[in-house]
Amino acid sequence: MFKHLEQYAGDPIFGLNDAFHRNTHPQKINLTIGLYYDDAGRIPVLPSVATVQTRLAADPAPCTYLPMEGLAAYRSAVQRVVFGEASTAVAEGRVATIQTLGGTGALKVGADLLHAAYPESQIWISDPAWDNHYAIFGGAGIPTNSYPYYDQATKGLAFDAMMECLRELPSHSIVLLHPCCHNPTGVDLSQAQWDEVIQVLQQRRLIPFLDIAYQGFGSGMDEDAYAVRAMADAGLTVLVANSFSKNLSVYGERCGGLSVVCGSSAEADLVLGQLKAIVRRIYSSPPSHGGHVVAGVLNDPELHSQWVAEVSTMRDRMAQMRGLVHEQLSTKLPDYDADYFIRQRGMFTYSGLSREQLQTLRERHGVYIIDSGRIAVPGLNTANVEHFTDALADVISVTV
Ligand code: LMR
Repeated sequence: MFKHLEQYAGDPIFGLNDAFHRNTHPQKINLTIGLYYDDAGRIPVLPSVATVQTRLAADPAPCTYLPMEGLAAYRSAVQRVVFGEASTAVAEGRVATIQTLGGTGALKVGADLLHAAYPESQIWISDPAWDNHYAIFGGAGIPTNSYPYYDQATKGLAFDAMMECLRELPSHSIVLLHPCCHNPTGVDLSQAQWDEVIQVLQQRRLIPFLDIAYQGFGSGMDEDAYAVRAMADAGLTVLVANSFSKNLSVYGERCGGLSVVCGSSAEADLVLGQLKAIVRRIYSSPPSHGGHVVAGVLNDPELHSQWVAEVSTMRDRMAQMRGLVHEQLSTKLPDYDADYFIRQRGMFTYSGLSREQLQTLRERHGVYIIDSGRIAVPGLNTANVEHFTDALADVISVTV
């Protein structure tokens, strides 16, 4: 019955991550997937998270269904973290928030909402993009397009071209934006550039959909949410998909949130009802254990501060690795401009390496980077960074 189906080509990120695990190179380095590793190369259990897990284990509770929209304590914590303690939109009850299955689940539920509310709308996604954005929105029936974002020549932002494109979009077009730590490039907008984007979104009556999966990995929890908060303050209707996978290191628990900032609390109620209906028909309700873990950390003032400090440690380590790569490459390849390692931020750096160079890195050096040339910085640590820069110098020296 299914012989006519297309062969799944595999996921470019998960597929190469699997290939890495099969490789036997003694010095192999995994720079494929957006997972945070500590300096010992381990995925950390954050002490704040461990404290809540211990508390939960000491007092086992029945594992019943959560409501379709998720735990109330989780949803209010999402609003405080993403929109800030002083958010007017939240205080006015204008934000409909649900607990979702990670950031990916939030994007899917949001995509279904938008397709139902605006069946004629198309979406514009940054070029380059996280591939799954195309799959999720296209899969939800929304035609996908791209807007210019990354300038190959400067390895920075193509801001003018991006704005030119946004200024031409039909009203009610959806625009997918990353408030911080852009995946895959690590290239972000400044606050002044966000303010310009907000003006165009307002003038053109566009629908921003913000994907914030790395809050805290750029400059700080509040700084990284600038675009979200500025859009909510400007009175825009905006969708926000957030994820705790990385900044709480709870990937497999599938903990994310979808928030829709509306014009009034009555409108937010309507939206919340539709979000519940969408959830019910896809997966009924979100997972309970992860929800309790995240809510436990975020709602306990002491653990919350501890978590913010833990996120700073992760951010600083990634910045330190960027600095080391920059320093070592500048010595090994004086003619190569390695500044992009320190200008780009967060988990990812866009290297511009060719397919051939990436192939050589894998085969000769055991260094795994996905085909777009996106480097997942947390795979680097003080023990392997020298091997990484040696390998990079080897493949780059041919072309410099
Ligand atoms: C990544 O981009 O590597 C992560 O966000 C993991 C994923 O789901 O692709």
